[in-house]
Amino acid sequence: MTPHNHAQPGDYAEAILLPGDPLRAKWIAETFFEDAREVNSVRNCLGFTGTYKGKPVSVQATGMGQPSTAIYVHELINIYGVKTLVRVGTCGGLNAKVKVRDVVIGASASTDSTIVKDGFGAYNFAPAADYSLLRAADDAAHAKGKTVHVGGILSSDIFYHPSGLETYSRLIAHGVLGVEMEAATLYTLAARFGARALAICTMTDCLITGEEIDAAARQSSLTDMIEIALEVAIGSNG
Ligand code: HPA
Repeated sequence: MTPHNHAQPGDYAEAILLPGDPLRAKWIAETFFEDAREVNSVRNCLGFTGTYKGKPVSVQATGMGQPSTAIYVHELINIYGVKTLVRVGTCGGLNAKVKVRDVVIGASASTDSTIVKDGFGAYNFAPAADYSLLRAADDAAHAKGKTVHVGGILSSDIFYHPSGLETYSRLIAHGVLGVEMEAATLYTLAARFGARALAICTMTDCLITGEEIDAAARQSSLTDMIEIALEVAIGSNG
């Protein structure tokens, strides 16, 4: 048990989905898991464990942003023995070819976060996805007929940036597909502690065109993404 998590050792499966939103964690457990049970509710940052297609799997909310995500990811790996972590989130689009509802898989995650800068001295560490998870997610997305983009994403610590879109211009010029707020730290900590990680995002709002997802499309798109993530997670279990 930790100040952030009252689950007991053994309460989490080795494979876990990581949404930001606690109520999305609850929805995932109630909608997709068999035999779901709540394992954490500290700060209402909900975690659940159950099975999917008969295989053990968990879901834990991370809250928004890299500092919060880092706490949960550190503890899940080092205290609870989680080995495969799949973030399921939304991202803002930074490339007009990425349409609302498309799946964006972060092969790498650039960041402005000090969490990733800290400790690498003269070097810029390159946070990257686990290749086998990435490939499995790409395959699962294609099998579902989803339009999927695999490439660089940005994990920013700043949602309301005073410079607006201009702040991303260099990254856009380097092919970065979308912006979210968690993946770079997830990838860095997974690499540091010998776990495997992937971030799968649904693009919900395009910062280039202003296109936004509507409520009905949001739900069905999230369902597709969760099913892809669960396939990836349980495939990595055994
Ligand atoms: N910025 C950061 N995170 C996001 C965004 C965004 O525009 N859209 C969805 N998640």
